[in-house]
Amino acid sequence: MKRIFLDHASTTKVDEEVLHAMLPYFAQYFGNPSSIHSYGREAREAIDTARTHVGEILGARDDEIIFTAGGTESDNLAIKGIAYLNKEKRTTKGPHIITSTIEHPGVLEVCRHLETQGFQVKYLPVDNQGLINLETLQASISKNTFLFSFMFANNEIGTIEPIEEIGKIAQEHEITLHTDAVQAVTKIPIDVKKQHIDMLALSSHKIYGPKGIGALYLRNGVKIQPIIHGGGHEKGMRSSTLNTPGIVGLGKACELAKKRMTTDNSRMKTLRDSLIKNVLQIEESYLNGHPEKRLVNNAHFRFTGIEGESLLLGLDEQGIATSTGSACSSQKLQASHVLLAIGLDPVQAHGSLRLSLGRENTKEEITYVSKVLPQIVERLRTMSPLWNR
Ligand SMILES: Cc1ncc(COP(=O)(O)O)c(C=O)c1O
Repeated sequence: MKRIFLDHASTTKVDEEVLHAMLPYFAQYFGNPSSIHSYGREAREAIDTARTHVGEILGARDDEIIFTAGGTESDNLAIKGIAYLNKEKRTTKGPHIITSTIEHPGVLEVCRHLETQGFQVKYLPVDNQGLINLETLQASISKNTFLFSFMFANNEIGTIEPIEEIGKIAQEHEITLHTDAVQAVTKIPIDVKKQHIDMLALSSHKIYGPKGIGALYLRNGVKIQPIIHGGGHEKGMRSSTLNTPGIVGLGKACELAKKRMTTDNSRMKTLRDSLIKNVLQIEESYLNGHPEKRLVNNAHFRFTGIEGESLLLGLDEQGIATSTGSACSSQKLQASHVLLAIGLDPVQAHGSLRLSLGRENTKEEITYVSKVLPQIVERLRTMSPLWNR
């Protein structure tokens, strides 16, 4: 059976060119990049090149990029790093952080942890399309607010937040802005300087790079404390011998994305729009998230009378991989915090399904899914006690 992968928000396959670029750095150029002999220099040169490519995709300088083990670690380093420094230095700012209710656990759980350490966190609500309200944000700022942490785009419903406007507000109030851009990088043009971003988290495995590698953009001048102490790698901000193959892979993924982003995004958007149009012809089906301000590859639906989980399994039997929430929460039985935050009740939230496209999906695949999905919805509804038409 031919399989169709429509779960690119959870992860992507490693691009052939990325894999090819990485391979020599396992056994041929295996030196420790901190060593000063020729083996070390070979690895270090490759890391320098990768750093340039990561910087370029963000409009950042090479020396503003810190390599980490992924999006979660980058979020942790940014938020804990500035929070702990702030606490230690007892700056004029107090211990207040503003974030949103729809953040990824990589941000939400860090904020919850900081609450146990004496920080105060305001979790801003979002509207029913997942957008933050800028007036509510302005009204929530206090003289103690030192940090904003808002995701660039949501991993479940795909809504894109007004980061540039948030950045302006942050700048006016001398508040540091961190953004989790794990889903946004390569889908939305990013220019950290223009968008007034001070810290940005990205992850390689969402952009056709390998797993277990990511980066934090840290604007020159922004001070944080490390959370991993040791040999002082990455200017003391992230100790541990650098993962040369992983970094080379991430760098290559960024280099490729920079070249093909415009074409890939417009192709995905066309396919995504046709998928949405087809699926919404199903009776009592709805699109979750914002109709326009959404990631080009995200389609997130809810269907009255059925469970997303059953639909996911039905599609899987036909070789189609989708998701009911984020990959991290798919093992949990509780309704998605994002769907509850946009005002869905638990039954509606459980009736939701995410299809996230990637650059290799084809028109034929979307046509096939558009044919199969309504049939499964219809079959499940005939068995559902919640559907008594
Ligand atoms: C918005 C967002 N932030 C953070 C992460 C975590 O990234 P990683 O898997 O690299 O730790 C993810 C992954 O699902 C994500 O979607």
